Amino acid sequence: MIRTVLTFLAIAGCGDTVSTPAAFPADYKASYVQVRPCRSSSDHDLHHVRVLADPLGLDPYSMRNAPFPVGSVILKEEYDIGDSNCTGALTDYTVMVKLAAGSSPATLDWHWQRVDSGRNVVSDDEPHCYTCHKMCGVPPDGYQGTCEVP
Ligand code: HEC
Repeated sequence: MIRTVLTFLAIAGCGDTVSTPAAFPADYKASYVQVRPCRSSSDHDLHHVRVLADPLGLDPYSMRNAPFPVGSVILKEEYDIGDSNCTGALTDYTVMVKLAAGSSPATLDWHWQRVDSGRNVVSDDEPHCYTCHKMCGVPPDGYQGTCEVP
């Protein structure tokens, strides 16, 4: 029941947040590495974005030569449409966390989150995240549910 209510709030949006914790640490900059530099994202609301990977996801994301280990985190910092250097204030984050193979086929075996700039989780597993990534996250442009072209 609580889960249903939370899901409803997540879908309803309107500034509500979800009570689960953000899927990445507050000090992620200490260990995450940039894997895609600042760029405009037509599929993420025209925001400028920068993509970072945690130590587990770094090699599979950068080299696309191995499966993502369970727990790999791919983090997208989102900036204002006009912030072409990604140097201003962050607007929000989108994040993908790898789940065990076969454990959640509907979500492509990833956990999806939208997190606001204050680290409040705005949504968990919005269907439109994995519905869209199902299409773009395949070769030649995508890789295992990730969509960013190198
Ligand atoms: C309309 C399609 C679409 C939707 C909806 C969408 N994405 Fe994406 N996403 C993309 C595309 C395309 C890229 C790569 C190019 C870009 O940034 O525009 C991307 C990139 C990403 C990345 C960087 C890693 C990578 O290479 O894929 C993350 C993380 C991400 N999306 C998470 C999310 C989350 C979480 C949601 C839902 C809250 C979401 N996306 C919704 C299309 C989408």
